[in-house]
Amino acid sequence: MTIYTNYALGLQLSHRVLTRNLHRFAAFDQADSLPADFGDYLRLFLEFLEVHHDGEERSLFPALRRNAAGRSTDAAHLDRWTSDHREIGRLHDELAKISSALTSADARGAVVVRSRDLLAVLQPHVDDEEAVLTPQRLAEMIPERELAAATDEVARANRSRALTMASFLATSLDPKEQASLFGNAPWLFRRVLLPISKRRMRRFHDIVQGGVA
Ligand SMILES: [Fe+2]
Ligand SMILES: [Fe+2]
Repeated sequence: MTIYTNYALGLQLSHRVLTRNLHRFAAFDQADSLPADFGDYLRLFLEFLEVHHDGEERSLFPALRRNAAGRSTDAAHLDRWTSDHREIGRLHDELAKISSALTSADARGAVVVRSRDLLAVLQPHVDDEEAVLTPQRLAEMIPERELAAATDEVARANRSRALTMASFLATSLDPKEQASLFGNAPWLFRRVLLPISKRRMRRFHDIVQGGVA
């Protein structure tokens, strides 16, 4: 698997985790109340969303921009995505505000409305990124070593929460998706660290029990 295939796969599965969870949150309009521990789960989701877009904005996009000189369509995509990220950041903050007030009577309705609002912006954004950032296009857009440097930079910036974020990601992926994403990870990570961390996510079972959409 090349670094380009790997990057595109990680991008797609991260996006799937984001949209999948927003569909779950939006479906709470059918529930009587919010699940136990939902506040903690929502904060993890918001952290994952932030880490994802910070990584693109601070590491990947600058590297793509450096290589986009003379290719105006690449530059135009990047500018559009950066402006999407600002809107997504605003909607992230709206959800974060209610994440600390989930006991209020209208909290469930607020979660549903804010999740739908975010999904309406996020879905076309991730579809667009995935349509452009395919392994083939990435290979034309950026040299291997620069993409590797950008992903290392993201890993360094998130070292302290890497395991929590990986286990949150895994919790929202089906076994086949998990195998495709983590299959090549070091043994210690796959066999020891990730299972321990995933066990800590078990308390969110009621939230993810609907399985993966
Ligand atoms: Fe993005
Ligand atoms: Fe993305």
